[in-house]
Amino acid sequence: MEECGSAPGLPGPRNQPAMPKGLRTVASPRVINIEDLRRLARRRLPKVIFDYVDGGAEGEVTLRENCRVFDDVTFRPRQAVAISTCELSTRVLGLNLSFPAILAPVGYSRLMHPGGEVAAAAAAGSAGIAYTLSTISGHKLENVRAASPGPVWYQLYLVGGRQVAEAAIERARRAGFSALVVTIDTPVAGMRERDPRNGIKELLGGSAVAKIPFLPQILAHPAWLAAFLLDGGVPNLENIVIPGKGPMPLMDVTAALASAVVTWEDLRWLRQVWRGPIVVKGVLTGDDAKRAVEEGAAAVVVSNHGGRQLDGVSSSLRALPEVVAAIGDQAEVLMDGGVRRGSDIVKAISLGARAVLVGRAYAYGLAAAGQAGVARALEILRDDVERTLRLLGCPSTSLLNASYVDVPASWRWKASP
Ligand SMILES: Cc1cc2nc3c(=O)[nH]c(=O)nc-3n(C[C@H](O)[C@H](O)[C@H](O)COP(=O)(O)O)c2cc1C
Repeated sequence: MEECGSAPGLPGPRNQPAMPKGLRTVASPRVINIEDLRRLARRRLPKVIFDYVDGGAEGEVTLRENCRVFDDVTFRPRQAVAISTCELSTRVLGLNLSFPAILAPVGYSRLMHPGGEVAAAAAAGSAGIAYTLSTISGHKLENVRAASPGPVWYQLYLVGGRQVAEAAIERARRAGFSALVVTIDTPVAGMRERDPRNGIKELLGGSAVAKIPFLPQILAHPAWLAAFLLDGGVPNLENIVIPGKGPMPLMDVTAALASAVVTWEDLRWLRQVWRGPIVVKGVLTGDDAKRAVEEGAAAVVVSNHGGRQLDGVSSSLRALPEVVAAIGDQAEVLMDGGVRRGSDIVKAISLGARAVLVGRAYAYGLAAAGQAGVARALEILRDDVERTLRLLGCPSTSLLNASYVDVPASWRWKASP
């Protein structure tokens, strides 16, 4: 039996109601930072699932660079400043967020933990931030909406074509999703080399014989396997409903994605279909950011899909200043990629992002302990942001700007003619 840890904000061991499931697993001192959640996720998940979350495309150069680049940015604190209250909240697309973070769309979340998208949305809402539901979801979008007391956004892939997308958009509108996030960096799926090595296709959809060579890694994780089987096994994709056929089987999605490229033309069509704000995710240049705004985007996400698509593109943080310079006065600029600490969030905000999306940082928590693990990831990031602001001598996230950081001289970007 584990010792009862007591982390800030978590109930202590004595004279308290029983802890919700999973809280002990992720309490301090076992979990102090996001890397600790990653370690627990690695222990709980079969290799095939852990590597699906953790891995990136090809040589994983961009994946590594997304995290490393934060080290290139150094802080310039203002010392001897007394801050009585530290204001972390921020407004994104008219929504009030308790701190400048949003949960990124993470496909196949239900494979990480049966609670999946529902658990992540509930944790985000309880923490006062927004959750973005991926098209590649094992839970119905209506149930995800119902689970969160906070705002939820719907991320769209055009899997199955416009008719299928339109039906999902209409369901999302009726359920109360407040923004549509259109991912534009996925004309085909990136080559994530760990996945075929681990037999992801065979394990999730292959014949019994095809599975055999890859089974030992699954059998080595009986707790995950039991939860997965009790949850009904490989889930269907509940929000990609093919007319006359029903929800798309999970294994059909890779092939379907290959013919689901989103073009600027589609953006124009989506502008007609969705009346609320559109967020264009996957922008890495000032020119694409301008184009997104021309096509009606209210916000863009500077993103390389967490290093999972085109390997060798620049890190998101490195691309952020160019995008802010191009459209910062016309649309909101968000970024994601490599955020593992609250200080990373503070650096991104200082360089012009209004908020960041976090992907793996919460996915590790979800895999480690379901909703409690996501809540712990958010608690860590939020506490980090507050401590960093106080150490910087900055009383509010809204007052952060480039004067609080130094960037390498080589970060000068060239404006296109
Ligand atoms: C396991 C996993 C699944 C993802 N699935 C999607 C998805 O379905 N749609 C999407 O737009 N982005 C997806 N992404 C990308 C994230 O939304 C986000 O851009 C990325 O995770 C940010 O990098 P980070 O993980 O370093 O925070 C996924 C990322 C991961 C790690």
